[in-house]
Amino acid sequence: MESLKWTVRNFVWVAGFGTSLIPSGGIPKADAIGTALAKTLGLVGKQLDFLQLHNYLDPEAFVHMVSNSPNTRQLFERVVSILSPGKATLTRPIIEAALESQDFGWATGIEKTVEVEEAARAFGVDTKTAQRLIKHPLYSYPGGHSFFELYVELVDGFHQLGQDHQGKVLCLYTHSSTLRALLIFLDPRPFSEAFSEFGAYKEGQDNVVLLTYEHGQLSGYSTAVGLSEKERAVREAWMTVEQDRRAKVILKPRTIRRIVALVSGGDFAGAGAALKELRVTGNRLGLEVHFVQHGFLGLANNWINLVTEEDTRGMSNHASSPIGSSRFEDFKDEEVQLAAIHHLKPFMEDGALIVLGGDGSMRGARAIYERFGIQVVGIPGSIDDNIAGTTSLGVQSAVSLANQSIESLKATSAAMGSVFFVEVMGAGSGHLALMCAYQARAEGLLVNEHPDPNAYIEEVILGTLKQTLGVRNKSHIIIVAERTPHQHHPEGGVHGLVDYVGGRISQWTHLQTRTGHYPLSVATKATILGHTLRGAFPTPVDKTIAQLFAYEAIRRLIEQPEQVIGCMLAYREPGTIQPIPLHAVAPKPFDWELFARMHGTELV
Ligand code: F6P
Repeated sequence: MESLKWTVRNFVWVAGFGTSLIPSGGIPKADAIGTALAKTLGLVGKQLDFLQLHNYLDPEAFVHMVSNSPNTRQLFERVVSILSPGKATLTRPIIEAALESQDFGWATGIEKTVEVEEAARAFGVDTKTAQRLIKHPLYSYPGGHSFFELYVELVDGFHQLGQDHQGKVLCLYTHSSTLRALLIFLDPRPFSEAFSEFGAYKEGQDNVVLLTYEHGQLSGYSTAVGLSEKERAVREAWMTVEQDRRAKVILKPRTIRRIVALVSGGDFAGAGAALKELRVTGNRLGLEVHFVQHGFLGLANNWINLVTEEDTRGMSNHASSPIGSSRFEDFKDEEVQLAAIHHLKPFMEDGALIVLGGDGSMRGARAIYERFGIQVVGIPGSIDDNIAGTTSLGVQSAVSLANQSIESLKATSAAMGSVFFVEVMGAGSGHLALMCAYQARAEGLLVNEHPDPNAYIEEVILGTLKQTLGVRNKSHIIIVAERTPHQHHPEGGVHGLVDYVGGRISQWTHLQTRTGHYPLSVATKATILGHTLRGAFPTPVDKTIAQLFAYEAIRRLIEQPEQVIGCMLAYREPGTIQPIPLHAVAPKPFDWELFARMHGTELV
């Protein structure tokens, strides 16, 4: 609960409105905004409740702000009477200058057609051209301001508001012209595209935007009345799927008698520590514990065994998975799934399955939960660390092992002046490569996510080496994620880079021609760390996280099965384990900010 509060510094609700509340149209619209806002609060509240997070969106604690204009006050009154019916008359809004209407010429004030005609006459152009010109963000309105100037002022004003009310939820009632500028600001597309889109924004398009102000930045969180069809559909689908998930939970609190655990997909460090804890806590709290050899393949082959204290002795420090794992593509076939379920069923009466693995394994777990009602809980484990909202088991140990090799390579690189390309696993996800490169202060990082690896090789790798080669005691390390595609070899990764980069370096005359100096001879070499990283010994951090996952899986299966069945547990920060529904498991976005920072630039 504290963690979310920490990230969400400030919430700002903004409702925009036209010039006056006409009883026939304006009042019902204001009521619609209030109702939509209340509905969204209810929805977000349910999601927070589901994730067992504190509901920080308490309408009674909102700070309401209006502009000087009577219609924003009226809007406030209608909305508050819906949000906090009993308290409406007691709540007073604050008048805030940043919320005043902005005269953006063609959006408010002068009739648009009149303005276009006047502009056409003044510029000596036809009305179509005039319309294009006055829609330009730098067009100066009769008051002497361009849209862009007012826009910057307005965004500044909102940032200030956010900064002055850290930790509060602000509910702002303002004008549609102001709201239009905000929508342009919040739109992730380039300014020109958002500007064109919201140029057509009309006062009748009432909207409520939930802004968050966190880490000094404003961003849009959701819209209510103006919710697009797509957003509405996504929200409703989430609620429906979530209801289905809950409906499939059969286990009642304190009825579970046994668990079956398996490890699936690419193996990883920490699996042993998690399995050992499942056995220890499971037995201590009265459960039978069974392990499946080689993941879903073992389920299809009926390799399910009861485990005892003796079986798990020494297991927590085991590298990789002590009970094996597998990639089992055939598990996508319904027939194979049926065979597996047939073997699993006798254990599932008063029992649950625990699946340890990566994104593919979580998809498998979701499939058997949704199709066959197997009471399943996921624990994320993959050196790829590519699941959003959690740290996956194995990545800490993989980085730690990679670090030993990378530091050795750095030492010899610094001594000899050579260039080392180090390939780490992660075809399709560069999180591990980024973690390795960042902590090692590597000179370069080539990942699959890069939009143009060839350009990166030319500009960043060769560009950096041009400056660093020949510097005494300087190491040159480039981390490369497995199979990153480039034009120097069909297999990508480090393949082809040694020859290509070596060839280019040999042509650099500046390295050879410093008068009175003999240059260091530069060798380019590649090291593939590959599968060594999957078999890394578990670090204390991985073992600790593994034990927390396992303990929480058992505890919650006993006490609150509805909260964890059909979910994957997520490790959010030290000591905090939270469930994420399997249907909501999503890929982790690549950390471009860290990528930029390791290259000595910042994105913000
Ligand atoms: O388990 C994840 C992973 O190690 C990836 O980093 C890698 O790209 C892939 O598996 C390799 O899989 P395999 O060893 O099965 O070829």
